Amino acid sequence: MPTNILPEMVLAALSKVQEPELHKDLVSLNMIRDLEIKGDSVNFTILLTTPACPLKTSIEKAAHESVMAITGVKVVKIKMDSNVPNDGRLRGLLQLPVRNAIAVASGKGGVGKSTVSTNLAVALAQSGARVGLLDADIYGPNIPTMMGVHDLPKTIGNKLIPAEAYCVKLMSMGFLVKPGQPLIWRGPMLNSAIRQFLTDVEWGELDYLVIDLPPGTGDASLSLAQALPLSGVVIVTLPQAVSLEDASRGLEMFRTLEVPILGVIENMRGEFFGSGGGEDLAHMAQVPFLGAVPMESSVRVGGDTGQPIVVFKPQSVAAQAFKSIAENVAARISVSALGQNNAPKINVI
Ligand SMILES: Nc1ncnc2c1ncn2[C@@H]1O[C@H](COP(=O)(O)OP(=O)(O)OP(=O)(O)O)[C@@H](O)[C@H]1O
Ligand SMILES: [Mg+2]
Repeated sequence: MPTNILPEMVLAALSKVQEPELHKDLVSLNMIRDLEIKGDSVNFTILLTTPACPLKTSIEKAAHESVMAITGVKVVKIKMDSNVPNDGRLRGLLQLPVRNAIAVASGKGGVGKSTVSTNLAVALAQSGARVGLLDADIYGPNIPTMMGVHDLPKTIGNKLIPAEAYCVKLMSMGFLVKPGQPLIWRGPMLNSAIRQFLTDVEWGELDYLVIDLPPGTGDASLSLAQALPLSGVVIVTLPQAVSLEDASRGLEMFRTLEVPILGVIENMRGEFFGSGGGEDLAHMAQVPFLGAVPMESSVRVGGDTGQPIVVFKPQSVAAQAFKSIAENVAARISVSALGQNNAPKINVI
């Protein structure tokens, strides 16, 4: 029997399905690929903007229901895939195959930037993204310890090969100096060291490069924000008021430098430091609140033993909080990339 289901009918049905984060429908967002109609069966792919999409299942379900409602359709097969949008600027400036660079910053030290950076990187990698982690805290590199890697693999030609742990590629000054050796940098050296970390390291194709910044609003953060076109920065703060003042200064510095603020993360929420400050800061600065991580001793133990909590105790409240923060960060990047969307048009096969 000849089919009377037309591609236009399927697209009309899918144009009623909203991507909840991006507030547009799947067809306007160019998310439908490989649409194929065979008799009473309809096959297509939904191309998400991040594998870390928390709404994957609900989008798939809504699309399925919507197409099933077309008269004559008996079978709907959907393949879920993802293609992380490319910021484009990194590729242009440094010839790097890195789609998005995300800096993790704070107003002052000890608030958990390195802990957030490692868990954010590992959680994004667990979702299926290709992730790199750059320890740009050249004064106090902690990433090797927190990721449980102490030696840099070999070099090939004049390129450094990044180390790898938990499916994350990583690079740190900590690999290049002996433990305990002080690191003294001056402005121009710092700038070129950071650039070398990007250009002399064989990162390969990355969806996200997470960059752990040194504390504060000093030279290193400034150099980095200027040396590198960042997709955005996340600001880490403790819950209490004093920490918020520092975090707010950090946030404003990035704003002045025109680095997009992806949002605020409150770390070490609990009895000791209180709660709610991160939300207050996000509200005051009118930026998204990305989530709160409770104070849990296993977070520290994980860091000390080289096993980020999302690997060490994936079911813990803190690990779940980090996963949800990673999804929120990925969503913010997808949202900000929407304006520059140059994805190919829907194809019917
Ligand atoms: N949610 C948490 N619960 C318990 N301990 C935590 C939590 N977050 C971080 N820590 C611990 O607090 C200490 C400081 O964290 P971390 O080193 O990540 O901060 P930082 O901002 O990178 O510090 P620095 O400014 O020195 O680079 C570490 O020992 C870490 O394990
Ligand atoms: Mg640190």
